[in-house]
Amino acid sequence: MSRRRQIYEGKAKVLFAGPEPGTLVQHFKDETTAFNNRKRGTITGKGVLNNRISEYLMLKLSDIGIPTHLVRRLNMREQLVRELEMIPLAVVVRNVAAGSLSARLGIPEGTQLPRSIIEYHFKKEGLDDPLVCEEHITAFGWASTRDLDEIVQISLRVNDFLTGLFLGLNIRLIDFKLEFGRLYTDDEMRIVIADEISPDSCRLWDAQTNEKLDKDRFREDLGRVEEGYQEVARRLGILPEGGPGDLPAPTTMQ
Ligand code: ADP
Ligand code: TMP
Ligand code: ASP
Repeated sequence: MSRRRQIYEGKAKVLFAGPEPGTLVQHFKDETTAFNNRKRGTITGKGVLNNRISEYLMLKLSDIGIPTHLVRRLNMREQLVRELEMIPLAVVVRNVAAGSLSARLGIPEGTQLPRSIIEYHFKKEGLDDPLVCEEHITAFGWASTRDLDEIVQISLRVNDFLTGLFLGLNIRLIDFKLEFGRLYTDDEMRIVIADEISPDSCRLWDAQTNEKLDKDRFREDLGRVEEGYQEVARRLGILPEGGPGDLPAPTTMQ
């Protein structure tokens, strides 16, 4: 790891220069933060599980034609991705009220929303990722109206697909966050899903008991935080008997 050029260290991941131009290595850490760094901790094994869960979900999205940055998982904590020109937005899709929506609008946690809602948060260190609207995004040039049309279309497809996938595992997809970037190839520009899709970036509740299986266990001090991540991996069929130390070999994406 020491011979590679570190490009960036964030709250949950480190980015290194990849082996070829236009690629990056995403290294998943066990360190975690919530409420934009106001709460910090370590969730043992989280990096290994998120690497594997995000790989699994992005490969599934790729199977149905949704473009993602993933090239392939490299090892337990790392994956090779395409380097993108990032759009500085956290795009949140909500099906059920929770988290900041409940806090901001006083809608009790667990209330089914009349329809899926998409929100944009401006990713900016020190500003607590504030909620922004389309006018801010286009006026300040973070994304064009065309980019946003594409982002909404992809986000809703991902929501439909992941809602079904998780429901098949007895899990309710309450909400989730996506990040997007631009991939330039010859004359073409494509909007591509970046970052990760994992229990750090999704709210996942057991469909029968509403038990939380995601980062809210850390945010809300619910205890047995690691077990939430392990349970999601187990239901996805990617947590072998031996635990996170014993994961299958990497798979390659076209
Ligand atoms: P944060 O920056 O919010 O603390 P992380 O610790 O997860 O988050 O760091 C990962 C960083 O890498 C994020 O800032 C994310 O926007 C960025 N990123 C994710 N995928 C790509 C990609 N394919 N190309 C360039 N940057 C990416
Ligand atoms: P929120 O209720 O805190 O706004 O979060 C909504 C969902 O999006 C939740 O699953 C957590 C995820 N999320 C992130 O992972 N990172 C972010 O920066 C934001 C704003 C949300
Ligand atoms: N991703 C943000 C943080 O790490 C917000 C959160 O997850 O609560 O602080």
